[in-house]
Amino acid sequence: MTSADEPTRYARAFEPKPLSRIFEIALEGGYISFASGDPNPAFTDTGWMAEEAARLLRQPGDPMLQYGSGAGQPSTREAIVELMADQRADLAADAVQVFSGAQNALDVITRLLVSPGDAVFVDEDTYPAMLNLLRAAGAHVIPVATDVEGLVPEALDAALARAGREGRAPRMLYTIPDFNNPRGTTLAEDRRPRVVEACRAAGALIVEDAAYSQLAFDGRRRPSLWSYDPQAVFHLGSFSKILAPGLRVGWAVCPDAYRALVQNAANSSVISPNVLAQELAARFVERGGWREAIRESARRYSRQFEAFAAALRTHDDVGLHYVRPEGGFFCWLDLPGGADAQRVLDRALERKLVFLPGTMFRIDGATSSSVRAAFSFETEEHLDGAWRASWAPCAPNWRAKTPQAAAERGLPGAAYWALRRAR
Ligand SMILES: Cc1ncc(COP(=O)(O)O)c(C=O)c1O
Repeated sequence: MTSADEPTRYARAFEPKPLSRIFEIALEGGYISFASGDPNPAFTDTGWMAEEAARLLRQPGDPMLQYGSGAGQPSTREAIVELMADQRADLAADAVQVFSGAQNALDVITRLLVSPGDAVFVDEDTYPAMLNLLRAAGAHVIPVATDVEGLVPEALDAALARAGREGRAPRMLYTIPDFNNPRGTTLAEDRRPRVVEACRAAGALIVEDAAYSQLAFDGRRRPSLWSYDPQAVFHLGSFSKILAPGLRVGWAVCPDAYRALVQNAANSSVISPNVLAQELAARFVERGGWREAIRESARRYSRQFEAFAAALRTHDDVGLHYVRPEGGFFCWLDLPGGADAQRVLDRALERKLVFLPGTMFRIDGATSSSVRAAFSFETEEHLDGAWRASWAPCAPNWRAKTPQAAAERGLPGAAYWALRRAR
């Protein structure tokens, strides 16, 4: 083996994990999927887009087919200012950096902020794609305890202090305060200024992932961490969940000191985000009615959750525990008796039901007795009937069964996890 064959630390972070195939399985026909956090296409009116795209493409000089501005299209940046006006009225368009989705912003900002060995604090269970980016950056990832009201400030204080004592630079907190992925919880409003203050005092920057923030079931936008201190917080937003993820348009509002750096790095990453897609995202706001459109889709997600909760209630004999989400796409289910979520998934796959086991959301891949169920995508009727038909039979005897189906499908199954735990 030559040194060129040695995987880099970056490459190792992205080596397929045993559960990587779960999303492919979810896409295969015949599965009822509670796996992916996909928006429901039926809840967003995109009928206007084809005509608008044709009009944009007919412009003299084909500006839609040229490179765009590295910071983002002016119209898109203005539209984002309008979307965020309920957070702070003093946001200027030139403080907005457009990205190819919030994911692209997470990638660029993580690479800019985190050096190997830096302490990065995350919610106890968090977004797996961000965990990969943090692994790739060589971060020392520190999960911070969360409860039904989100990140626990006292636990954050203790973790920041401990990192300081150990001589690790407390570099960054990555958190999803609203309608958290995966837990569905919302950071209590009285905790928000405390979290911002704790990080400021310790010299840690905050990366606030607001991918779901506009989708409050009660229509009330929670105050972002960014609104308390724009110089301490990178605020990331997205058109993916409110309009269409295929457009790949998201954004970051960065502290002034980082603005030029982020723009240069973004520029070297994608030159400019897709110009046509950005213009379509801008039209969504410019054409008016966007507040009501988002409000209506949030109402529909709320109804989805109610249908899902009704199905859960009919099976409360199995002792599932969950917290009602206040918005977004996810419900976190704690299994009774500390059952291993991976084993429950194995059993569910046999019944053509897919969801994500809690272990996927942990930096150490530790066993979890929780599962994430995304209720956003399945149809309302299906939601109740499917869950009833597929979950109920696997619940009562899940602990007795071997994970046959998972092994057959190339998934690891319990033997793998037992080995992993033994290491
Ligand atoms: C927490 C979180 N952040 C970021 C993203 C990526 O969003 P985008 O489609 O804007 O790249 C997702 C997508 O599911 C997500 O769940």
